Amino acid sequence: MKKWNIAVIPGDGIGPEVVSEGIKVLQAVSELNPAFAFDCAYFPWGCEYYAKHGKMMDDHGMEQLRAHDAIYLGAVGYPGVPDHISLWGLLLKIRKEFDQYVNIRPIRLLSGAPCPLRDAAKEDIDMLFIRENSEGEYAGAGDWLFRGKPEEVVLQTGVFSRKGTERIIRYAYETARSLNKLLTSVSKGNALNYSMVFWDQVFEEVGKEYPDVKTYSYLVDAASMFMIKQPQRFEVVVTSNLFGDILTDLGAAISGGLGLAAGANLNPDRRYPSMFEPIHGSAPDIAGRGIANPLAAIWSVSQMLDFFGYPDWAEAVLRAIEQVLTDRDTLTPDLGGTAATAEVGDRVVAALTGLVRRHELKPVQ
Ligand code: NAD
Ligand code: IPM
Ligand code: MN
Repeated sequence: MKKWNIAVIPGDGIGPEVVSEGIKVLQAVSELNPAFAFDCAYFPWGCEYYAKHGKMMDDHGMEQLRAHDAIYLGAVGYPGVPDHISLWGLLLKIRKEFDQYVNIRPIRLLSGAPCPLRDAAKEDIDMLFIRENSEGEYAGAGDWLFRGKPEEVVLQTGVFSRKGTERIIRYAYETARSLNKLLTSVSKGNALNYSMVFWDQVFEEVGKEYPDVKTYSYLVDAASMFMIKQPQRFEVVVTSNLFGDILTDLGAAISGGLGLAAGANLNPDRRYPSMFEPIHGSAPDIAGRGIANPLAAIWSVSQMLDFFGYPDWAEAVLRAIEQVLTDRDTLTPDLGGTAATAEVGDRVVAALTGLVRRHELKPVQ
């Protein structure tokens, strides 16, 4: 039997609440499949850990994580610890040091999910965002000159390397080709006269190797408008780190909210573990009440199953989520219901078990 080793970092706020539901689904998948199982190791890192130890993770934390096949993370950041300390000490550190340069964020309107756009149909909102995840505006580079003086100047440098830009754009072309979909690049070359001019140039250069892939290129401001007015324009989308961050929260908003938006931070060459997480944060405004929506965290379990090579099970988890959304009797308050986080997780497990019982889904033997 194949054993997958998962490092679980529940993190802060609603992180632990949604992660336990994701793990519940993962364990159910493992019980339904004789061929594989998951071994979870928990790491109590985050803002509470910081309060006790003055650091966001153990000194040998990265080595401990490296020994796993994947990382499953809840959320990082909580009032009391400055965000740039908590995020650079854990989430952004892992993305960078494990070279998880691809951030896959599907924006799909699942059956039963509420959509704020008038007349939008399920097929209209089906995008795959591929966000550069290792450099760009998140290079962590800059300077703070004449601090506190009248001539104070602060620089935040975007770093777009040839290697970093080419590899994410190539990954996007390969994905669009394999899915037979349009590829859209979102940038901002009119104002960002170094970084985004370079980005556009690389997008065009690499595109010469993919004459069969139909492409579009939008400025980020226009792209935000089109995502609302004509979401059907977008299929596979490649964009920089910061633009991808912002546009995927917008994407979440048009496909049911942050409680339904998942993300995979991939190291495609598999030298380091990849990390799966909902794209939302620790939601301090609702933390501790047991009412957070766990579906985004459960969707990222589906992404993990896909990454491990179980696409049928990845799809099945999405079908189970859709069933729960469509039945509408077990939804958390963000989706208009009154259910608790744990009840939603139980319903997803029940839906998944139902698929197997009705022989709509075959266990991997
Ligand atoms: P947030 O995503 O935590 O919350 C934004 C809003 O969405 C809140 O009203 C919240 O209640 C709601 N929301 C988010 N997830 C939800 C869920 N699963 N169910 C129901 N409602 C949900 O963003 P924020 O408030 O800007 O950030 C809070 C903290 O989280 C900050 O410290 C921030 O830096 C951090 N953060 C971390 C991550 C991450 O770990 N990946 C992502 C975003 C923000
Ligand atoms: C996300 C988050 C992070 C990001 C923050 C918390 C650093 O917003 O995963 O979308 O900007 O990437
Ligand atoms: Mn974000």
